[in-house]
This record gives sequence, C-alpha cells and structure tokens, in this order.
Amino acid sequence: MSTQLPELDLLAHEARAALAAATDEGALEQFRLTFLSRGQGRIKLALRGLKDLPSEARPRAGASVNALHNEVEAAFEARIEALRQRTFEDRLAREQIDVTLPGRPRPRGRLHPVTRTIREITAVFQELGYRIAEGPEVEWDRYNFEMLHIPPDHPARDMWDTLWVEGDLPMLLRTHTSPNQVRLMLSQEPPVRVAVPGRCYRYEAVDATHEWMFHQVELLAVDEGITLADLKGTLEYFIKRMFGAERKVMLHHSYFPFVEPGVEMAMDCFACGGTGCSTCKGSGWIEILGAGMVHPDVLAGVGYDPARYTGFAAGMGVERIAQLRHGIDDMRRYYQNDLRFLEQF
Ligand code: FA5
Repeated sequence: MSTQLPELDLLAHEARAALAAATDEGALEQFRLTFLSRGQGRIKLALRGLKDLPSEARPRAGASVNALHNEVEAAFEARIEALRQRTFEDRLAREQIDVTLPGRPRPRGRLHPVTRTIREITAVFQELGYRIAEGPEVEWDRYNFEMLHIPPDHPARDMWDTLWVEGDLPMLLRTHTSPNQVRLMLSQEPPVRVAVPGRCYRYEAVDATHEWMFHQVELLAVDEGITLADLKGTLEYFIKRMFGAERKVMLHHSYFPFVEPGVEMAMDCFACGGTGCSTCKGSGWIEILGAGMVHPDVLAGVGYDPARYTGFAAGMGVERIAQLRHGIDDMRRYYQNDLRFLEQF
C-alpha cells in the first residue's frame, strides 16, 4: 500500500502551471477559488485521500499537503502583490504631471456687442448728466400707446407692428422704449434727464437691418426753456462721440404722435458709404433714431404744465448703431450665437 497521496505531485504541477498562467486579477481570483479555497480548493480536498493511507503514513502525507498548500499560497500572494505593484506603477506613469508645462489658457468670455454698445451709448449720456433707468418689457397699452397720444384705433398704431399678450388684458411686448417717458414723468417732477436702454419687440419681417427683437435707448430731457436746438446739439454731440467728427448725419422732419415737431436722424450707409446698396435699400442712408419735442398733450397727460415746461425725447436703435460702429453687414448675426462672429468683439 502506498504511503503517499498518489495525485499530489500532479496536483502540485497543475497548481504551479495554473498560477504561472494567471496574469490578471480575474484569473488569479479564479485560481484562488480552484486551488486555495479552504472548503472547496483542490489542495485541501486532497486531504480526503488520507483515509485510504495506512494510519502511520497519514501524518507525513498530511504534512505534504499542508506544505504544498503553504507553498502555493505564498506564491499566489507574491503574484497578487507583484500585480498590484505593477498596476500602481502603470498608474503613476500614466498620471505623471509635468509641472514645467505651461498652463492651458481658459477661453475668456466677453460682452455681447449689443451689450457693449448699450454701455457705450449710456456712458456718453452719463457724461452729459443723464441718469440711467429701466422699465418693463411687457407693457400696458396705456403707456406704450395711449399716454403717448396714440389712442385705440389711431392710424399711427400701424407704425408699430405689435405683439400682443394673449388674454383680455390690454398688454403687449413694448414696441419701443418710449413708454418709459410716461413712466418716468409720472414718477418725478422736472427737471428730467434720463436715458433708458432696453429690449423692444415688433411683429416684423426680419432682414439685414430689422429684427423682431432689438434694443433701443430712449432719451428724455424735460425742463424750463428746452428747445429744438438742445435736441440737435445733444444728438450731434452723441453722434460725434460715438462715430467721430467726420461722420455724416442727416436730420429731417418726421412724424411721431408723441412729439411735435418730430425728426429722424440718419447716417451715411456703412456698407456702401452713401452711394446706395441693398443694405440701405438704395438710399445711401440708414435711419438710426427718431426724436422730437415732447408733445404738450403728453406733458399735460402726466401732470406737467406745458406752459412752463418743454422737453425733447429720442429713441435710437442699438443694433443699428453697433452695425455702423463695427461695419456689420447683417443684423441677424447678433442673435445667431455663431462664436466665429461673436469672438471678433
Ligand atoms: C420709435 O420707436 C420711437 N419710439 C422713437 C422716438 C422716441 C421718436 C422719442 C420720438 C421721440 P422708430 O420706430 O423709428 O421710432 O424706431 C427708432 C429706431 O429703432 C430706428 O431708428 C431703428 O434704429 C430702430 N429700429 C426700429 N425698428 C427696428 C427693428 N425692427 N430692428 C432693429 N432696429 C429697429
């Protein structure tokens, strides 16, 4: 009768070969379960064969099994440790930081050209002592039209293609910044000197010089003794500060129900220099603002005495002024969010 477990040498050979073949964590775990597990591992299971040996041979055979188990377990631990070390070193190599590399510059945000232009416009008027105010974009008919001398059914309403708020309330998206004239005069006594920037909305066919959403800056000055000469001088000063003394400006008579007289100011076309092109619809001029002397009825409507006070008001288109300043051919570019365009400012 044999005094050794018959399969032990083969088992030892298989275990060493399997360990040598296991090169990743998954395979090593599989190896541990197959050979080293306390309950089901093949090495420990070999102990079952002891009962077939003569009793005096069992201690030595059992010791051989335990020795094999310890040997394979130690080799296994060494492999696991080596694998961990290698993974760690790989990671160190992969995540190495070269502190001498120059940093990556982060892209800098900047102000939208329209925002910048609003700030430039209002800065000029602040120099002249105007304060800056704001008003609501969703407005009452009363301020957008009625108190500006444009009652319901007045044909002048056609001058502003209006977006109305759904429902029964007489509310709209303001078509111009002029309702702020009324709001401001109702909230204070003269003298008034205020500039009001803000968004306006019109049910408008969009083209190179018209948007359905655009910005205006409203200007209002009311005091004793203000004349049309003040209007002209102020707006000319503004144009020269914004565009340089050489720019050509045209002032001509116009009609707005809330001013008398009314005027319109235009500048020579930025695209063609005044010879006439598709941008200026052949006229050579681009209209940038409407203005006039505040109508006595509007003054009376807010409780100012028109016999004592006079004033002028103006409303200018910010997008068009920015077009002129930067030679932008098409207003639609402002709101298409094309970074190639926006990053130029
Ligand atoms: C008005 O809106 C008057 N409230 C201006 C005014 C104020 C007159 C105070 C008298 C006293 P108008 O509709 O012309 O006027 O618009 C004024 C300016 O806004 C225009 O000159 C133009 O530069 C700009 N604008 C008008 N419609 C658009 C549009 N659809 N897209 C871009 N800019 C526009």
